[in-house]
Formats: sequence, C-alpha cells, structure tokens
Amino acid sequence: MIQIENLKKTYQTSTAVEALRGISVQIEDGDIFGIIGLSGAGKSTLLRCIALLETPTEGRILIDGKDISSLRGRELTQHRKQIGVIFQGYHLLMQRTVFANVAFPLEIAGAGKAEIQQRVTELLELVDLADKADSYPSQLSGGQRQRVAIARALANNPQVLLCDEPTSALDSFTTKSILDLLQDINRKLGVTIIIITHEIGVVKQICNRVAVIEAGLFAEQGTAADILAAPQSIAAKQLIGIGGAL
Ligand SMILES: Nc1ncnc2c1ncn2[C@@H]1O[C@H](COP(=O)(O)OP(=O)(O)OP(=O)(O)O)[C@@H](O)[C@H]1O
Ligand SMILES: [Mg+2]
Repeated sequence: MIQIENLKKTYQTSTAVEALRGISVQIEDGDIFGIIGLSGAGKSTLLRCIALLETPTEGRILIDGKDISSLRGRELTQHRKQIGVIFQGYHLLMQRTVFANVAFPLEIAGAGKAEIQQRVTELLELVDLADKADSYPSQLSGGQRQRVAIARALANNPQVLLCDEPTSALDSFTTKSILDLLQDINRKLGVTIIIITHEIGVVKQICNRVAVIEAGLFAEQGTAADILAAPQSIAAKQLIGIGGAL
C-alpha cells in the first residue's frame, strides 16, 4: 500500500513555484490508479516524488508503512528498485539493442550473465517483442519502444509501476494495446500501477480508482466508475467533457 500524506513540492526558481500544495491519497496493492489533470497541474511532479526522483518539500510517502521520502544513499537506491517508471518519451538507450536496454537495470543490480539472459528473454516474451531482441530502438515503432521501456521497468520485479503519460504519443489503436499490456501485467504479476494522463479514455479503459489533480491539489478522488458517472469538481467535469470545453 502507498500512503501519501500532505505532500508538498515547491520549486525554487527566480520565483517559488508551488507545484504540489498538499496531496493526500491511499493507493492499495493491485490498484490501477489514474491521476488525471490538465497541463501544469502537477502530475509529473507527483510521479517524480513517488519515484524518488524528486525530494518533496513537505509531507510523507509511505510504502507498506515505511517512509521512503526521507531515505538517502544505499537505502534510497535499494528502494528505487521496487519502483519501475515509464515515460511518454520512452527514454531508451539508443546505442543499445532492445535486449541490452532491458538487461541494463539487471547489469546495474549486479546480476550474472545466465540470469540476465533468462530474465530478459522472459520479459521480451511478456511484452511480445521476442523477435526484436537484436533491433535498435530507432528501428522500432513508438508502441514497440514503449513495450521495451515497460520490459525494462519490470526487470527488477518492482512492486509498483509508475507511468507518466505512457500513451500520449501513440495512436488510439496502439494506445489500446499498451493499456491492455499494462492491465495484463497488473493481473498476472500483481504490480500496482499508477498512471498519469490527461486523457479520460485511459481512465475509462483500465483504472479502478482515479484522482483529479488541479493546481497542485486533488479536486476529487474515488472509484473510476463513480467519477466517470458523476464528476463533482469543475476540473473533473472539464476533463470528462461535461459542463464546459477544455
Ligand atoms: N524542475 C522544475 N523547476 C521549476 N518549476 C517546475 C519544474 N518542474 C515543473 N515545474 C512547474 O511545476 C508545475 C507543475 O509541473 P508538472 O510538470 O508537474 O505538470 P504536469 O501536470 O505534469 O503538466 P503536463 O501535463 O504539461 O506534463 C508547473 O507550473 C511547472 O512549470
Ligand atoms: Mg507532465
């Protein structure tokens, strides 16, 4: 279970930017939790805080009761392994083959050659890319690249997979296949998924719970079914397309 308590993040630039202003939420094991909001609402900041890529200004993030937001050094590195992340832009290593991209986190973790061979083969089968092991990212479509990124994110058996707009650069058909894959991973491997999006279609297709973020605060949260059927906040109504244009 992930508990976020009163999370705040202020970026200190020439002026202070309050990107997160007090986010609290509980995400249960096995959830596919959607965080939806307009551009600049604070979605990526929140995801980066949960991924331990950003230090919160205030508040706590607890995973299974342990506060991860205060970890440093070795313990921080250890905990990062429990969390896989994928991004809209895939972030693959362009000079490495598909196999070598997926192998990368295993190499870093000090896995042996035989173990890497077995695990990468398994992961490429899971994402249906066994035949592309020797290809380079530049030789793949966007959807295939995202599949490689998903396989790589799962390499160290994370408990949680964080996805920042994973399908925003993809057409609707490819989006559906990537979302189907994420759902499959959630069901088969029991990985909790947090998916950030500005597309209500993503929430409709795979999320069981959803939070609507607006200007660094959650305007509303609940089951996807409830919020889709009867959005209460102005932000949710806008995103769902009721009561005003975007
Ligand atoms: N590294 C940074 N330094 C300063 N300000 C930042 C930084 N990253 C984000 N911000 C600011 O924090 C706010 C939230 O940004 P964030 O990237 O979290 O939004 P977002 O909801 O992911 O938007 P988008 O949908 O466009 O990706 C914005 O006002 C943004 O300008
Ligand atoms: Mg973003």
